[in-house]
Amino acid sequence: MSGFDTVWLDLREPADNAAREPDLRRSAIESVTADGNGATVVDLGCGTGSTVRALAPQSLSWHWRLVDNDLQLLEEAANRLDMPDQVKCLQADLSQLGPELFTDAKLVTASALFDLVSAEFLERLLHLLAKRDIGLYTALNYDGVCSWEIAHEADALVVEAFNAHQRRDKGFGPALGPTAEPVLSRLAERAGFKVLTGQSTWQLGGDQAELQRHFIAGLANAAAETDRLDESVLEDWRRMRLEMASRSGCKVGHWDMLLLR
Ligand SMILES: C[S@@+](CC[C@H](N)C(=O)[O-])C[C@H]1O[C@@H](n2cnc3c(N)ncnc32)[C@H](O)[C@@H]1O
Repeated sequence: MSGFDTVWLDLREPADNAAREPDLRRSAIESVTADGNGATVVDLGCGTGSTVRALAPQSLSWHWRLVDNDLQLLEEAANRLDMPDQVKCLQADLSQLGPELFTDAKLVTASALFDLVSAEFLERLLHLLAKRDIGLYTALNYDGVCSWEIAHEADALVVEAFNAHQRRDKGFGPALGPTAEPVLSRLAERAGFKVLTGQSTWQLGGDQAELQRHFIAGLANAAAETDRLDESVLEDWRRMRLEMASRSGCKVGHWDMLLLR
């Protein structure tokens, strides 16, 4: 188990799909379909296969190599997509990135992954892709900004602590967290990619209270681990936010990026 369970991934998938920047999504699809239907696309940190579903229906005629280190999630992805001839699932630790993952690939995709990785990982990935003229489409990376319709006085402190926690090592070395976008953009330009960026902010309403509650619990647990907040302040924030989830809207900033050769 990687710590990313199917309950959390299932809750976030509709919000992710609604948030994806539409022009980048379309351009990513076009970059693959320009070569016909036989193209191979590699999804890094695939979870249960949400990227394949997000790029459907076009993606359903592509050949996919889905990569994750969590065997349970890979099995879930294979079962849900149920296209054994077209979808190959591969267990691999992406922190040990090797060229074999990218054989014959036209595009690499990654959703909700790049805020977990280090600058060294991005550098290595871009090096491997640039050498092979492979594009990259990454979506739903957290940008460090959260806001709520109904404010709590500790909102800024909790988000600050959460963002600090996001910079801790998530298995790839020191994580970029909310700083990943400018780092990837700079490295990609230097490696000769055309860089297109867009916002994919979650706009959660009271009807997504369950997702909000999971997000709030994750935020509070991570903030607690940093020891930056008084325990009683954090507990008051958690209690109020959980109570308000069905009444207060919430925005969580994310970014998407398409890199083309
Ligand atoms: C936030 S989830 C996103 C899953 C999926 N892309 C989505 O959008 O629903 C991050 C994914 O990256 C995978 N992951 C994290 N670290 C990894 C590593 N070192 N090697 C391979 N996969 C990893 C996790 O198992 C998880 O499936």
